[in-house]
Amino acid sequence: MSADESLLRSLGPARKMIVAIDGPAGAGKSTIARHLARHYGLLNLETGAMYRAFALKALRAALPLDESKSLEGLAAATTIRLEPGEESNRVLLDGEDVTGLIRNQMVTDAASRVSVFPAIRAWMVRLQQQLGAEGGVVMEGRDIGTVVFPHAEVKIFLDAAPEVRGLRRFDQLGPAPAVPPEEVIRDLRARDERDRNRADSPLKPAPDAVVLDSTHMTLEEAIQAAEAIVAAKLEQPSQGQ
Ligand code: DC
Repeated sequence: MSADESLLRSLGPARKMIVAIDGPAGAGKSTIARHLARHYGLLNLETGAMYRAFALKALRAALPLDESKSLEGLAAATTIRLEPGEESNRVLLDGEDVTGLIRNQMVTDAASRVSVFPAIRAWMVRLQQQLGAEGGVVMEGRDIGTVVFPHAEVKIFLDAAPEVRGLRRFDQLGPAPAVPPEEVIRDLRARDERDRNRADSPLKPAPDAVVLDSTHMTLEEAIQAAEAIVAAKLEQPSQGQ
């Protein structure tokens, strides 16, 4: 057991921490969330996967993605479950495992579109609050520290320059990517624009979030910086307890 982990355990069951990690696409949220979850013995919940699963259902139903009413009707007949695993979450859409179907460009773009609607967000936020109600989670997304868990013990806003995030994404596409890096950066900027400028819960750091800009960091350095943020919080006497 690491020193941090034993400190966490010594705080006892009354102190089940919530770590909120928000930030734009490609900032490294998933990798850092996975690492923190493992390090501190927490569950890792990827809320973007929930929006993606719903977007997949809307695409399959050939619904217009710019019209709230029909999406709301679809949401009323949809169940989405996240099962945290060692590496990533298993995503169940109406009981079907769609984990392998939600990372392509079409779903990525659709998820960013359906997530602008307040009714869809309200539904997702409720589901996410239920998932994290017991604490003991690292939850990553866009509005976790601002809306889903505004009282989370630790809030990290992970950012990096768009070109750097785009190139990191490009490198993840494998040895013979079908698209040039410029296109990956362009798509990412378009998504940033929608996520940051939507009227309902736009992507922005919570006032009490620690902003971690990984533009000039290696992944290892960013992980260490995130760990240091959590460790510093754990060492602070908790307020109101
Ligand atoms: O994190 P991701 O790339 O898997 O997220 C997919 C889309 O879902 C993203 O463009 C914005 C949306 N999203 C959101 O609006 N709020 C969240 N908490 C998580 C994701």
